[in-house]
Amino acid sequence: MPIALITGASRGLGRAAAHALARRGWSLIVDARRADDLAGATHGLADVVTVPGDVTDPAHRAGLAAAVARAGGLDVLVNNASRLGPSPQPLLRDYPLDELGRVYDTNVFAPLSLIELLTAPLAAAAGTIVNVSSDAAVEAYPGWGGYGSSKAALDQLTAVLAAEEPSLRCYAFDPGDMRTDMHQQAFPGEDISDRPEPETAIPALLRLLDERPPSGRYRASDLAAPAATS
Ligand SMILES: NC(=O)c1ccc[n+]([C@@H]2O[C@H](COP(=O)([O-])OP(=O)(O)OC[C@H]3O[C@@H](n4cnc5c(N)ncnc54)[C@H](OP(=O)(O)O)[C@@H]3O)[C@@H](O)[C@H]2O)c1
Repeated sequence: MPIALITGASRGLGRAAAHALARRGWSLIVDARRADDLAGATHGLADVVTVPGDVTDPAHRAGLAAAVARAGGLDVLVNNASRLGPSPQPLLRDYPLDELGRVYDTNVFAPLSLIELLTAPLAAAAGTIVNVSSDAAVEAYPGWGGYGSSKAALDQLTAVLAAEEPSLRCYAFDPGDMRTDMHQQAFPGEDISDRPEPETAIPALLRLLDERPPSGRYRASDLAAPAATS
């Protein structure tokens, strides 16, 4: 069965993706910083290796690569773990640069480092990289300059990687708004109960993995639409 590594799998989109792939019988390697949450989120899944840790920690990333080596390969890497930045999000003229560095460490440098560590096994499997993006990468929402620019950088890394690694599929995947901890952090004090659950983005993610369209940037809302009949 295929093997996937999903970062940030203890809740939200990452947890939903892990459960969806586990239901298909995939082997999983997953992480999150809080070991107890990760263990709880993956309890009962048949074939899952949990590697608690922070994706910004090089030793943790080496641990993930070691888990891939022990598993004997890798078909799909989902760079999902992400950092929003301050809540509420500041205007760029007030943005603390030390925090911006932490946002980029998590959203840009850690995904690229995992790609560097794992391109060889992914290429051997003609595999797939899914870098989880956001509409904030392409829309200029006031207050979203830190997080949004990090996701824009991740999008461009994905696009260049696709040109450099034609044996791989490289996707920037925008799941759309989801009712998660990160979304609540982005809208502190607001009622976000009208946002869809993260599970609603999973059919689009599975469509990417199943149909393997050309590398590029995809929105869940587009992938979830019924296929054109003519
Ligand atoms: N929610 C939305 O509306 C929305 C919209 C567009 C895009 N996205 C993107 O969708 C992805 C998932 O977001 P979400 O809303 O599902 O977030 P979430 O519910 O807050 O979950 C984030 C997951 O990542 C883990 N994580 C966070 N920082 C980590 C780190 N440094 N190292 C390892 N694990 C880490 C968290 O566990 P720990 O805290 O225990 O580490 C948790 O498992 C992100 O890439 C986000 O940018 C979300």
